This record gives sequence, structure tokens and C-alpha cells, in this order.
Amino acid sequence: MEHLERFGVSMPAGLLAEFDAAISQAGYANRSEAVRDLARDYLVRRQWATPGGQVAGTITLVYDHHTREVEDTLTALQHDCGDSIVCTTHVHLDHHHCLEAIVVRGRSEEIRAIADRLLSTRGVMHGGLTVTAAAG
Ligand code: NI
Repeated sequence: MEHLERFGVSMPAGLLAEFDAAISQAGYANRSEAVRDLARDYLVRRQWATPGGQVAGTITLVYDHHTREVEDTLTALQHDCGDSIVCTTHVHLDHHHCLEAIVVRGRSEEIRAIADRLLSTRGVMHGGLTVTAAAG
């Protein structure tokens, strides 16, 4: 395991009390673990905002497969994405609705463009993109 550094942090008492209450409600055992997660989240968001930053994530789509051509369109779009798409899982939610979870990896701007194209396809009712940094 990597060496842990200790450091002191000063902040207004009210802010700290609010932070302690929130992380306790979230189930954190201590401040250190919560601050580590905040630091990782900050780094991922920086990576995501940096042109050419390498990210990985999941695009989730919910659509009605009775909508004309929606499945053909989604499949054609995914075939045009090359190595950015790692794999796709399809779940038949009910008689009408399908859920697709598409694992993606690549440059942040490419991943955003792929998600925008898939989510704006006619027949896609709901969805979203969740990202993390590609490494670490
Ligand atoms: Ni289905």
C-alpha cells in the first residue's frame, strides 16, 4: 500500500460541522476517507475537462424498441465508434423498454460526442453518461 501523508486543514467551524454531518450520513468512517474521495473526484473532473484527457465510463440508454429504426440506428452509431466502445450489455426491461449499458474508454471529447449522439437518437427516452479517469 502507498505511503500515507498527513496534513492539517483549517476551515470555518460551521463548514466543518456541516461536512462531518454529511459524510456521517453518507457512511464514511472518518474525514480522511471522505477527503481522499473528494480529491479523486476533483482529479477526475480535471481529467474530464482537459482536451485529450483519457477517461472511462458508462453510457446508459433506455428506449422503446418499438420505435421505428431505433435499434438499427443505435447499432450503426456504435459500429462507427471504433475502439472507444469496450462492450455493451442489453437488458429487456419489459414488453416495450430496453436498457443498454455501454462501457466506453478514450479521449474525453470523443466520449462526450459519442454519448451526445446516442442520447439524442430518436426513441431514446432517458439515459446518461458516468465517467471516471481511465487510470487510477
Ligand atoms: Ni430489449
